[in-house]
Amino acid sequence: MAANFVRAPRYAHIVGWGKALPERVLTNSDLEAIVDTSDAWIRERTGIRERRIAGEHDTTVSLGFAAARQALEVADVLPAEIDLIIVATSTPEHIFPSSASLIQDALGATAAGAFDLSAACTGFIYALSMAAQAIISGSITTALVIGSETMSRLVNWQDRGTCILFGDGAGAVVLRASDIPGGILANVLHSDGSGRDLLNAPLVGSPDLGLRGNGEAAPFKMTMNGQEVFRFATRVIKESILEALEKAGLTLADVDWVIPHQANERIIARAAKSLDLPMERFIMNLDQYGNTSAASIPIAMAEAAERGDLRPNDTVVLVAFGAGLAWGATVLTWGVTPPPEQTRLNRYRREMAYFLARQRSNLVRTLRRLLSLLQLSPLRNVLRRLDHEEHTPTGGNNRGPAQ
Ligand code: COA
Repeated sequence: MAANFVRAPRYAHIVGWGKALPERVLTNSDLEAIVDTSDAWIRERTGIRERRIAGEHDTTVSLGFAAARQALEVADVLPAEIDLIIVATSTPEHIFPSSASLIQDALGATAAGAFDLSAACTGFIYALSMAAQAIISGSITTALVIGSETMSRLVNWQDRGTCILFGDGAGAVVLRASDIPGGILANVLHSDGSGRDLLNAPLVGSPDLGLRGNGEAAPFKMTMNGQEVFRFATRVIKESILEALEKAGLTLADVDWVIPHQANERIIARAAKSLDLPMERFIMNLDQYGNTSAASIPIAMAEAAERGDLRPNDTVVLVAFGAGLAWGATVLTWGVTPPPEQTRLNRYRREMAYFLARQRSNLVRTLRRLLSLLQLSPLRNVLRRLDHEEHTPTGGNNRGPAQ
């Protein structure tokens, strides 16, 4: 007989946030030396003044890891408490393993599942939606959602129509279950793959790459139809904001802040006008970072939170659009569960977890290699036990909701 009980509703709250940006700044004037363009043209057509470019040691994983550490710090959450890590990215370090798995390993988040999500510039909205649904359904308690990109390694630096737009960086949030109403209220996700040619970057396996008979591949090449993307973006920003608000049972009058994907100031201004919302309600940082694809919304959110612009109970709408075509929006109530006072002990435990994660990863990989060389099965059992212990931390997956 089926159990007859009613589960209390669960909500998914953002309780931590962080960002990481490479140090190297590439200004519009710097770009004048690379392609036939000008500072005035770029500023007037896009609103971008400068962008950050990954240094030799910056990667999608290292930036995502740095943003994640900050988010865990704000939330005062330990790596072992994370149940799920999703990394939204179009610039993963590998086809496999996922960047999420590498970040999981670096954090020492030994109880977490991890995967990458590909929805281009809309990736963070998709990832946030997936993580929130997993929390609301009761299957997990704590999720880390990261948008991380090294777009500078994907763009064609000979194409002035695209290379001026993009930048590198990462943003992250910690989502936690709570029985307090609020948090992520509604999501809308859309896709129209017929627009595949409007914004495209082929990868291994794509016929667009023109793999030659000898296995040699043409170099990766991003292509974009700027004007079509511009038209599409202004239309879907308005549509998806209104749709998500309706789903949340709210109206434009309830909106305190919109955090849009930072692609082009003129796109946002046009959408704001068509919604009759003042630009002051739109959180913008495009002038400093350009378009950081899936990272743009969490970076802007982290900055707005750090400035204190986002206040408890504010209604915030996130909206994104990009290659796919894919687009979507999220409506959330901010700061219903304020971050706890960080304890020094937990900070120390996190630092230890990161340190031990590095040692554990190196040790396990070395042992694995050694054992496969020696084929020693008793030692394999020791290794398996070591792995198992690491995956069953105190507290496990079935903690109650955070209050
Ligand atoms: N510097 C100087 N001139 C440039 C230039 C650059 N970086 N890029 C293009 N131009 C030139 C074009 O060659 C064209 O010259 P022509 O008239 O002699 O042919 C002229 O500027 C106008 O080009 P156009 O493409 O019509 O410009 P635009 O006003 O549409 O602006 C974009 C171009 C790319 C800035 C704009 O279309 C855009 O932002 N689209 C959306 C792109 C986007 O956001 N993509 C990511 C979505 S997630």
